[in-house]
Amino acid sequence: MLKMLSDSRGSLGTIEFVDLPFIPQRFYWVSMVENEVRGKHAHKNLEQVIFVQKGKIKFQFYNGAVQSTAILHEGEYLYLGSSIWREFECIGESAILGCLASQAYNEDDYIRDFDAYLETFNEIL
Ligand code: TYD
Repeated sequence: MLKMLSDSRGSLGTIEFVDLPFIPQRFYWVSMVENEVRGKHAHKNLEQVIFVQKGKIKFQFYNGAVQSTAILHEGEYLYLGSSIWREFECIGESAILGCLASQAYNEDDYIRDFDAYLETFNEIL
């Protein structure tokens, strides 16, 4: 889905939308600085493909109470469905996270409180 072409001049990353499991309605990127945790939310109804455009990023996910961790390097990506709590921070001085999202930005789609997240998650099951 994501292709990286690297040579002595640098790197070029590409994603063909036809390969995505949804039609993106939004692209955003996050420029990250050391020792700052971002995310800390889940979405009620949003699909995303997140990828590392630069640097190295450590992710912590919760699928309900089940926790997992992933470290992604430049050019690596993950699909995130709805109802996944995520927190992330860069490893090293800085990193850039890219995200393709299935819906336009909507603050009402966010769950920003972890206890409320667990409650909502348990209701869905
Ligand atoms: P947020 O999603 O909380 O970022 P992070 O998880 O990286 O900390 O968004 C930070 C702010 O940016 C928040 O006020 C909402 C706003 N925002 C938009 O206006 N549009 C967007 O597409 C996104 C992702 C965020």
